Amino acid sequence: MIVLGIESSCDETSVALVKDGKKILANIVASSLKLHSKYGGVVPEIASRMQLESIASVFLEAIKVAKISPKKIDLISCTITPGLPGSLFVGISFAKALALSLEKPLLGINHVYSHIYANFLCHNNIKLPVIALVVSGGHTSLFYIKDFSNIQVIGQTNDDACGEAFDKVAKILGLGYPGGPLIERLAKRGDKYKIKFACSGTKNELDFSFSGIKTSVLYYLKGKKVNTCIKQDLAACFQETVINTLIKKALIACKRKNVKQLLIGGGVAANSNLRNKFLASTKESGITCFFPSISLCMDNAAMVSGLAYQLNKQGAKDNLYLNVQFN
Ligand code: KG4
Ligand code: ZN
Repeated sequence: MIVLGIESSCDETSVALVKDGKKILANIVASSLKLHSKYGGVVPEIASRMQLESIASVFLEAIKVAKISPKKIDLISCTITPGLPGSLFVGISFAKALALSLEKPLLGINHVYSHIYANFLCHNNIKLPVIALVVSGGHTSLFYIKDFSNIQVIGQTNDDACGEAFDKVAKILGLGYPGGPLIERLAKRGDKYKIKFACSGTKNELDFSFSGIKTSVLYYLKGKKVNTCIKQDLAACFQETVINTLIKKALIACKRKNVKQLLIGGGVAANSNLRNKFLASTKESGITCFFPSISLCMDNAAMVSGLAYQLNKQGAKDNLYLNVQFN
């Protein structure tokens, strides 16, 4: 079964063709990231305009790379939530037009869940139930997954998302956007033991809070002459504290649910320090930790196609009234 997926929740426009939820035939990603950098974050109006400008050519490129006639597509899927409404509208409208003109079924997909599915595109030995941790620019959540149509949220952030905290700290340090990769690079030369930071406590043990640590970074710099050395130490200590918090909570979740497999997904999962520390800590606890490849941690449509295949197999389908899901 060949599923066409469309991802347009933020600043990436992506179209993919995936066979049987596994084999990626094409996964084309265009990004408007560069246009947002000077504003220190994604500007929704610019993002949606660029979605509109890119979507047709990204679709044509995907068809060309996959060497597939559109008639051979069995299902059209697209991200419907969460994301920037204007950007989502573009992908959804394009998906509906394709479904109508090709006379194919249509299915809307949750972006956060598709980040988790990215692991199934890369690994064959994952067995449900699992605990999943999504760490992206907009979300930080822990899930207990028995089945993709039965996903239970067991922890989430009370304020900033993890990627958002990386982006905000990078902004404080004058590094640019997106902040995650810039903090990671800077942290490599820093002393991670130099400054003691902590993430704020949460009422639910499995929830997260990252806005306090961002403020601590701001206070630490107050009145100091900021040089490269201070920035490096700060990046290293901030990153270390955030990663340790994520690991601690993910391990508690595995223990609480008596689950031995942990899936990580989302943009922050591209952080090499995070990957290495998670792999070491989970191994110690007898848990197998999975990550998607670096490129599949980022927003892409292959993960949308893959999840759509799974859900469609279980009977899920939508009609042409499909729209952005606000909640
Ligand atoms: O999943 P994603 O591409 O988009 C959303 O769904 O939000 O995640 C983007 C986020 C940004 O906040 C970015 O700073 C962060 O992922 N990110 C990283 C790294 N690469 C991207 N954070 C830490 N380390 C990285 N290497
Ligand atoms: Zn994402």
